[in-house]
Amino acid sequence: MVHRVFSLKYRPQDFDDLTGQGHVLSSLKGAIKSGRIGHAFIFAGPRGVGKTTTARILAKSLNCSEGSTIHPCQKCQSCKEITLSRSIDVIEIDGASNRGIDEIRGLREGVKYSPLRGRYKIYIIDEVHSLTPDAFNALLKTLEEPPSKVIFIFATTNPMKVPSTILSRCQRFVFKRLSLKEISTRLKSIADLENIKITQNALHYLAVRADGSIRDGESILDQLSSFVESEITENDVFKLIGFMGSSFYFEILEQVIKGDLKQVILLLNKGIEDGADPVEIYRGFTSYLRAVFLVKTGLPDEYVELSGDEIASLQNIELEREKLTAMLEICLRFEEMVRRSINVRVVIELLFSKLVFNLSRSSESPRKMNNDKDTANPNGKANLKDKLSNRLQNFSPKLAGIIHDVEIERSDKNIIISAKNDFSKRQLEGNRKVLESVLKNILNGDFTLTLNMTERKQEKNHLAETIKDLFDSEEIK
Ligand SMILES: Nc1ncnc2c1ncn2[C@@H]1O[C@H](COP(=O)(O)OP(=O)(O)OP(=O)(O)O)[C@@H](O)[C@H]1O
Ligand SMILES: [Mg+2]
Ligand SMILES: [Zn+2]
Repeated sequence: MVHRVFSLKYRPQDFDDLTGQGHVLSSLKGAIKSGRIGHAFIFAGPRGVGKTTTARILAKSLNCSEGSTIHPCQKCQSCKEITLSRSIDVIEIDGASNRGIDEIRGLREGVKYSPLRGRYKIYIIDEVHSLTPDAFNALLKTLEEPPSKVIFIFATTNPMKVPSTILSRCQRFVFKRLSLKEISTRLKSIADLENIKITQNALHYLAVRADGSIRDGESILDQLSSFVESEITENDVFKLIGFMGSSFYFEILEQVIKGDLKQVILLLNKGIEDGADPVEIYRGFTSYLRAVFLVKTGLPDEYVELSGDEIASLQNIELEREKLTAMLEICLRFEEMVRRSINVRVVIELLFSKLVFNLSRSSESPRKMNNDKDTANPNGKANLKDKLSNRLQNFSPKLAGIIHDVEIERSDKNIIISAKNDFSKRQLEGNRKVLESVLKNILNGDFTLTLNMTERKQEKNHLAETIKDLFDSEEIK
């Protein structure tokens, strides 16, 4: 039997069979039900997320012999022909390979004739942004005087390249990249139907690699199933796509932070010898840094495309946000070079030596020191406070604000937090458990926590001093 690739075999034929894109689907269904169908649609969004598939389902819905419906019957001649791409009333044009004005001229002739069998004549133009300016002009003329019973559905991964004169005449639908969970759930159900055994971790990495696109995920699953005989594991995924797990990036980042360039280069080369593609390492490391950045910024876990354990390990990475953003910036500056170089390995080594060098240089500046284990260092205290406040931001902005105004002293295994006033102290006491667990997470060790209040006298003095400073300052005199 001829093998049908998964992406075609499992192409959804009904709106309800699509994963995600709920916002698009509900407005399309609404339009079909109410019978208010526009004459031009544009489906914009990244690759492999269901644009062409939705265009075909919409065409089926509009032309089904049972009448316009949100659940096409799949049995009538029109439905069957659309499934097989053979309908005479649904014309698919690939904008990327038919960039020429001739095709659009042909289209302009064609729209003059009524649909033969269905209610509408439907033109689906894929990758519409690739049309030439002349072709766009010809298309625009048709859109300006839309023939009745003709519907255009344009799909594009690059709506910025579609002239605004065209865009403004279309109803626009934005397709989203799919989440890790959506992709892995879809792939799991395909694996079940195909009797493919696959571990949860393998599914996870497959979904990460699919990078928002179900089609990419399906293609990788398809390939894996053809060479793995028993259960597919994460190592099979890594082998096939030259991809490394996050523990690899964790190790590299640790060595970068330590400033051990030699170890970094050894690790990189070991990864490459194990089959990782240098471009993939670049991409993986950059995404890993992004994940660290998101976690440190306090975003909820679903924004970070890593598993729970991996996120927990990220929490322990000691890296200030400033340094992190500087590192991300350096990585992005290398993107073009990685893409164009014929010796990516050298480019990657150069990138990592820049990262190590940059990091060691910035830690020499005392202002940027990040060592809250050193109680003698006043910045250390400030850092612990910032960290605590940052992490609490997500949980309770109010508590984070209170922490912003406290004093934190730390000696050995004692941490003393002194609140500014009675109200703040009560809030801190009420949240002692939360504070302890967040602190434990930051410090990675045991401690006792004492909650105090700064003496009022001190507060007054502080205020008085500030006022005095203000009045004594040069500018005011
Ligand atoms: N939202 C989705 N739900 C289920 N399957 C999907 C979805 N999106 C894509 N697929 C799978 O991927 C295949 C390709 O999807 P489709 O051609 O619709 O993508 P596209 O957005 O048009 O991509 P491109 O921009 O590359 O043309 C489908 O046949 C289907 O197997
Ligand atoms: Mg498409
Ligand atoms: Zn039908």
